[in-house]
This record gives sequence, structure tokens and C-alpha cells, in this order.
Amino acid sequence: MRPLTIFTALLVIAAAASARLMTKHEIRERQLEAAKRWQTSGRLAVRAAAGYAKPSGVKNITFTNPKAAGPEGSLDDLIFWTSGGPGCSSLKALLQENGPLSWSWGQAKPTVNEQSWMNLSSVLWVEQPVGTGFSQGTPNIQNEDDLAVQLIGFMQQFLDVFAELKGKKLYLTGESYAGAFVPYIANYIYENPTLLDLSLQGIWIGDLQAQIPAVDFVKKYAGLFSFNQTYMNYLEKTAAQCNYTGYVDKYVTYPPTGLLPLPGDSVDPSGSCDVWNDIYNNALIINPAFNIYHIWDTYPVLWDVLGDLGSSVQSPVYFDRKEVKEAIHAPVDTEWTECSNVHVFPNGDGSLPSAFTVLPNVIEKSKRTVIAHGLADFILIAEGARIVIQNMTLFADRKKG
Ligand SMILES: *[C@@H]1O[C@H](CO)[C@@H](O)[C@H](O)[C@H]1NC(C)=O
Ligand SMILES: *[C@@H]1O[C@H](CO)[C@@H](O)[C@H](O)[C@H]1NC(C)=O
Ligand SMILES: *[C@@H]1O[C@H](CO)[C@@H](O)[C@H](O)[C@H]1NC(C)=O
Ligand SMILES: *[C@@H]1O[C@H](CO)[C@@H](O)[C@H](O)[C@H]1NC(C)=O
Ligand SMILES: *[C@@H]1O[C@H](CO)[C@@H](O)[C@H](O)[C@H]1NC(C)=O
Repeated sequence: MRPLTIFTALLVIAAAASARLMTKHEIRERQLEAAKRWQTSGRLAVRAAAGYAKPSGVKNITFTNPKAAGPEGSLDDLIFWTSGGPGCSSLKALLQENGPLSWSWGQAKPTVNEQSWMNLSSVLWVEQPVGTGFSQGTPNIQNEDDLAVQLIGFMQQFLDVFAELKGKKLYLTGESYAGAFVPYIANYIYENPTLLDLSLQGIWIGDLQAQIPAVDFVKKYAGLFSFNQTYMNYLEKTAAQCNYTGYVDKYVTYPPTGLLPLPGDSVDPSGSCDVWNDIYNNALIINPAFNIYHIWDTYPVLWDVLGDLGSSVQSPVYFDRKEVKEAIHAPVDTEWTECSNVHVFPNGDGSLPSAFTVLPNVIEKSKRTVIAHGLADFILIAEGARIVIQNMTLFADRKKG
């Protein structure tokens, strides 16, 4: 092993040395070269980026019968995807996350997404609940159970039209606030097995706790946040007063010793124990481009074909263009925004966090459950997901309490 280690170390040094040899001028040359390539191949999109786009010849977008393109793909599976919010469109995920094309921030034109989930399975991106994206109707749901009922109604109609998908293995997936939607939808399907002619296998979500680990998160990325010592001291003091300090070290150890205490009296603290909001406000003072979904972002904010929340108002928003709507058979008179301007839960979401209620049941009934988390995400923090998982009682443990 030793010779190998030395060899690796030498390689690193060599790479560092050659990186130093590149002058600023050379770097600039390469960037100009790359920019030229974009300009010649993606002229229309570049003009759109500059804000004076003409309709750029969107051709028919055809929705064919789903086909799993990848070598590992299965035609027996159907993945349902919903974005979070609540009220954010799944078309964002289709175009910028797990769909067949990628037209992400700063990209002048779309590229093929080599990591598309469609390589493995048929995927259905649904804009829900009512009030989201192109969905039609007036929002009237009070909680996640209402949401599940409406969604299953849609799925039944969907299967009437695409009857060839009946009987497929279903996986429910989604990110962010969908950590609330997906377990409740899954639970409703498990509790009402005759409603849907699909065989639910499992769920995939990315979600969970933000407050308890927020100050730890700032300390982990201290260089990135660059807060001054006065503010860091204030955060440390607040974390201690709110009983956040040392929480993860003490409680997120395996196996768990019992239920985890909630520091304070609510999963959604207000006042000085709402450190998350305080950190966010102050991060924006130092870095006006601070992005809670992707903490390394700095100025300038990148152009986004979907007019993303985090960026300045941009147009035209791709899915809101008339010719795009016509091409995908979306209602032309519905304004599309990435995240809805109306409240999709008009009186708020009356349901408790899914981990306190239905999620344990869903995990027990599912063949597979994946709870994923991005490390560059500050809106919901990875350590928080560990806290929530740690606090769930599953299988035999439930009887012990
Ligand atoms: C779009 O599809 C329709 C129906 O198949 C066809 O008549 C039309 O020519 C197509 N338009 C373009 C621009 O391909
Ligand atoms: C996914 O499919 C695309 C398009 O067919 C292909 O270019 C890509 O290599 C595939 N990726 C994987 C991981 O199979
Ligand atoms: C852990 O679960 C219990 C029981 O559901 C709940 O009362 C408590 O608030 C939870 N703790 C955390 C940190 O969420
Ligand atoms: C923190 O824990 C102490 C000791 O258990 C308790 O007295 C205090 O009320 C807690 N603080 C908060 C904000 O919950
Ligand atoms: C330290 O940071 C805090 C929070 O951003 C700010 O309010 C305060 O003015 C800063 N103090 C100094 C001395 O820069």
C-alpha cells in the first residue's frame, strides 16, 4: 500500500504545479473560446438570455408512450414525481433536475441529461396540488389527506387514459416540501389498496429539520458564511439558550435510546430560537446572492430559463411562452410560474410533519424507502434529516414505545 500512497501524493503535487503555471491571460482566453462556442451554436438562446428574444421556433414536443432508454431500464416501473413548495411546479424538475433534458441556471441552451431518471423507468411529472403550474381549478384543500384524495382522483383518470400503465410498479418521489406530500399520498394508497390499479413499491424523498442543526451548519461552513465574531458569538449563545448546542452529538447516535426531546415547544419555533431565519437574513447582508438551495452561489445571479425564485425577475419564462404552451398542449391563458402566486393550501397545511404521523407506516409497508439530502442545501439541513429519522419508531420498536 505504501508505494501507492506515495504515488498518489506525487500526482497531486504535479497537478497543483501545472495549475500554477496557467496565467490569468490563458484562463481568460479559454473562457472567451468557450463563450464563442456557445454563441455560434446557441444563438437564439443567447439572445433570449440578453432579454430580446424572438419566438425561437419551438417545434412539437411529443409525449410518446414511455420507454426506459437506459440499459438497466425497466418497463415494469412507473415513477411519480412531485416538486415541493408547496406550489412549485414539477416541470422545473423535468427541465433542471431529473428529466431527459437539462436547461439549468446559466445554460444558454438545453443539453441531454445523461443522468435522466427516464433511463431507468417511465416517469410522470405532475403539477400538483391544484394551483400549481398549469393545473386547473381553485385550491380548496385543508391538509395533506385532502391533497392525497385529489391526487389519487387524478391518477385514476390518468390510468383510464393510459390504460397500458395499469398494474405497473409505482414509486412515489419528490423533493423539499414533497417530503410532506409523498408520505401522505403513499399512506393513503396503502390504506385504500383498491383505489388505484398500480402496485406501490416505495418512496423517495428529500426533506426535513432545519432549526436544530442551523448553527452547526454555519460553523461547518464558517469560511463561506464569513460572519464576524460578534455575530458568531451571538449565534452560539442563542443555540445554547434554545438547547440546540450539542444536540446532534448527544442524540443522533446509533442505536437510539428513545424519543428525542424537542428543544422548545414547537417544530416551528418563533422569536429568538428561529435562528434559521436570522442566519438567512444576515447571510444576505454579506452575500446578496446567497442561495438557500445552493450555498456556494455568489454574484452575479445566473440567468435562468424558468425565472427562478432566487434570481432577479427574468423573461421570457420558458413554460409561459405562448408557443411553448401550444406545443405541449397546456392552457394558453394560464400564466405559468415556477412557484405559484396563490396559496395552494388556502388556510395553511393542517397536517403535522409526516415523520410524526404517517411516515413510519409508509416505511414499514414499502419495499424501499430513500430519504436523500443535498449537502449544499441550507433550507433544509442534512443533519436535520438524521434527527428526524432517528426519532421515528419503526417495526417492533413501536410496541416498546
Ligand atoms: C405538430 O404536430 C401536428 C400533429 O401531429 C402536425 O400536424 C404539425 O405539422 C406539427 N408541427 C410541427 C411544427 O412539427
Ligand atoms: C441515458 O440516456 C441518454 C440518452 O439516451 C444517454 O446519452 C446516456 O448515456 C444514458 N445514461 C446512462 C447513465 O445510461
Ligand atoms: C420525537 O417524536 C416525539 C413523538 O412523536 C415528538 O413528541 C418529539 O417532538 C420528536 N422530537 C423531535 C426533535 O422532533
Ligand atoms: C432548555 O432546557 C432547559 C433545561 O432542560 C429548560 O429549562 C429550558 O426551558 C429549555 N429552553 C427552551 C428554549 O426550551
Ligand atoms: C457583525 O455582523 C452583524 C450581523 O451581520 C452585523 O449586524 C454587525 O454590524 C457586524 N459588526 C461589525 C463590527 O461589523
